[in-house]
Amino acid sequence: MKISVIGCGYLGAVHAAAMASLGHDVIGIDVDEVKVDALTAGLPPFFEPGLSELLLAGQDRGSLKFATDISQVAGAKVHFICVGTPQKAGEFAADVTYVDAAVESLRPHLDTDSIVVGKSTVPVGTAERLAGAISESGASLMWNPEFLREGHAVDDTLHPNRLVYGVADGEPGKRATRYLDEVYAEMLSDSLPRLITDFATAELVKTAANSFLATKISFINAMSELCEASGADVTQLADAIGMDDRIGRKFLNAGLGFGGGCLPKDIRAFMARAGELGADQAVAFLREIDSINMRRRVRIVDIARDALHGSFIGKRITVLGAAFKPDSDDVRDSPALAVARLIATQGGVVTVTDPQAIDNASKSFPELNYVINTSDALLNADAVLLLTEWREYQDLDPKQTASLVAGRILIDGRNVLSPELWRKAGWTYRALGRP
Ligand code: UGA
Repeated sequence: MKISVIGCGYLGAVHAAAMASLGHDVIGIDVDEVKVDALTAGLPPFFEPGLSELLLAGQDRGSLKFATDISQVAGAKVHFICVGTPQKAGEFAADVTYVDAAVESLRPHLDTDSIVVGKSTVPVGTAERLAGAISESGASLMWNPEFLREGHAVDDTLHPNRLVYGVADGEPGKRATRYLDEVYAEMLSDSLPRLITDFATAELVKTAANSFLATKISFINAMSELCEASGADVTQLADAIGMDDRIGRKFLNAGLGFGGGCLPKDIRAFMARAGELGADQAVAFLREIDSINMRRRVRIVDIARDALHGSFIGKRITVLGAAFKPDSDDVRDSPALAVARLIATQGGVVTVTDPQAIDNASKSFPELNYVINTSDALLNADAVLLLTEWREYQDLDPKQTASLVAGRILIDGRNVLSPELWRKAGWTYRALGRP
């Protein structure tokens, strides 16, 4: 089937490559020529394991192309909208102008034999608003939210745990379902659950899922605050409550909290949209989720300053990790970089290292010092803060690390190191929610 993908950022680039690997003929459209050129060369403009191979395989087969010219979508039966919906400047709401522009640019190319499938995360009510304009051209609209995680994007796209189709009533909805079933036929043959809902439910599934994940993280981080107040250990607490399969251990890793391009902006957009709908009380708790999350950043700075006897002035601080999470080079709302900047503003001489995210970090925050090699970054540090749990940092040897630094102070912002091992090697080990 000929497919178009509008917007080739994280979601779109991975979706286009994944659809081509399922045997479809895919054209990815993006306004950014540099991105289009990079994707055409099989070089993703971001770090995502497995994506480059998928891009090259699609291009070798001749079934995957990227372009800036929207007229190249001609003849496609299914058009996926994968553009971003960032937080609006100066407010909580999501900016849906890229979604609106994508629909507008597609309209001249739609007919009764085509469907538009929204995948972007949008405020509830967006699909209903867009459906009229799309049906005027004879096409049908559906919303099919995406649940991929950065760092696992290829696998999550090709092997999701469910598909959600938000469709219109009657024949337009049935037609859209038939077309999308054809696109996903190979995935559906593995008895993958597929839920058919109305537009609003499909949109809410995505926002609710991300809100739940954010809530789970902030819940354990709130427990972490109580552990600090009472001398308990939040990692043992998480293990113990997580053994109840009604609770589950996943997303109960206490530490510096969540960042990235999705969870923080999605909970804020959800609060803004709920307010517009007169249902703000229903998600008022998300404000607390957000503030628990933000408190972690301040708290770790306090712990580090305390370990340095009350001041960062003139102290050399090494921050391990700049990405918002491991296996990613994404620094959007990165907790690690937020902490690095806070320490720098308090007089610390901060050096940041990361296996993948230094380019992006240095573009966003040029005022910090960046060093690629971990050992070089650790050299003569007065304190080391592990803020993004890359495997490489989890595997650091306490004795060997001690030979590089000036002061044996280790702040474990992700609760991934063994306090016993590090203390045995003479380190002052401090963490969030652990004695
Ligand atoms: C998130 C969701 O997990 C995906 O399902 C969703 O599709 C995606 O947003 C999206 O909306 O596009 P992602 O932003 O890639 O995916 O990252 P996560 O793996 O969810 O991690 C988010 C943040 O939470 C990271 O900063 C991570 O370090 C933090 N986290 C995660 C914790 O602090 N503790 C945990 O136990 C888990």
